[in-house]
Amino acid sequence: MRENPTRERAAASTDNGGGGAVPTTSSTATLELLECAPRQRPLLDEVLDGLRGTQKSLPAKLHYDQRGSMLFEQICSLDEYYITRTELGIMQRTAASVAEALGDGCMLIEPGSGASLKTDLLLEAMATPAAYVPVDISRDFLLEAAAAIAARHEVEVLPVWADFTRRHPLPTPAASINSRAIYFPGSTVGNFSRPEAGRLLELFAELLRESQAEQAGGVPAGSVVVGFDCKKEIPRMEAAYNDAEGVTAEFNYNVLDRLSRELGADLDRDRFEFRADWDEEVGAIVSRLWAKESHAVDIAGSTVQFEAGEPIRMEESHKYTPAEFEQLAGAAGLGLEKFWSDDSRDFAVVQLRPLGC
Ligand code: AVJ
Repeated sequence: MRENPTRERAAASTDNGGGGAVPTTSSTATLELLECAPRQRPLLDEVLDGLRGTQKSLPAKLHYDQRGSMLFEQICSLDEYYITRTELGIMQRTAASVAEALGDGCMLIEPGSGASLKTDLLLEAMATPAAYVPVDISRDFLLEAAAAIAARHEVEVLPVWADFTRRHPLPTPAASINSRAIYFPGSTVGNFSRPEAGRLLELFAELLRESQAEQAGGVPAGSVVVGFDCKKEIPRMEAAYNDAEGVTAEFNYNVLDRLSRELGADLDRDRFEFRADWDEEVGAIVSRLWAKESHAVDIAGSTVQFEAGEPIRMEESHKYTPAEFEQLAGAAGLGLEKFWSDDSRDFAVVQLRPLGC
């Protein structure tokens, strides 16, 4: 099914929090929004699908309601959660060389953009970016983040409201473009299974090839810059998802609370125990909620039975060796161009280019 993209002018305002520490003159930006969001599947269908299977699971994206997004921010500053600060450190040290690798007049596309510090760093380091294109399924977050970037940087911001895991059109900036780059930081790629991650990289490669074909003659295909978490000692990986304060546990229990509230379910968090374990075969930390006792749950009129000791799979956080990631990318038609990391090789940021371009 093909969605019809529509253009709409949306006024998005940046809230400076009222703290007054950083005075800004333009708090309102008018942004052109490219709308191609597909009809979202009803939450109830997704949840029942996941809980009725022989292996119960819930989609990882359900973590990010308003409270979940706040809890995730808290996770990012936990001692045990090395990911965010390590990637930020890499970007602080290498933003200039990443920017150089992207070149002048680059259109920066960010799938699943949040209000990211890393994007700020990168845009800051790019001398003359042609445009910034955040792509997100959450319209409100998208407009807020886009307006915030527009207020801080001298760059044309062209948000796209879309599901980045599906094909979507790209806007045409007013400025002329020398190249395109898809920026996918944060180990977001880790939340996809290995085959899904491969398909996603394939889609990125296609997007770059297509946009090159459109602009006959001249525009280089561009590149993908992606951050992924590296395999390391199991205790460190497990500690990152079983923090002492229990913030990550809360991040998972919050999904049960959310579903109870939004679907009129009676999922009782006290009847589940949280644990995240390294799965060697899958190559991921698998987060689960384990039923402490046998019980039945009513979800909008449907009954779901839990046995004692039965798990709900909540999330997979995939980890790669640099060689594994290079292989995944290669199978998707993307070759490794540049590699940046921290001293301990805990996290990696790589630049990939469509092979044969
Ligand atoms: C946002 C997917 C990178 O898997 O490490 C953090 C989400 N879950 N703690 C990750 C998460 C529990 C995070 N990613």
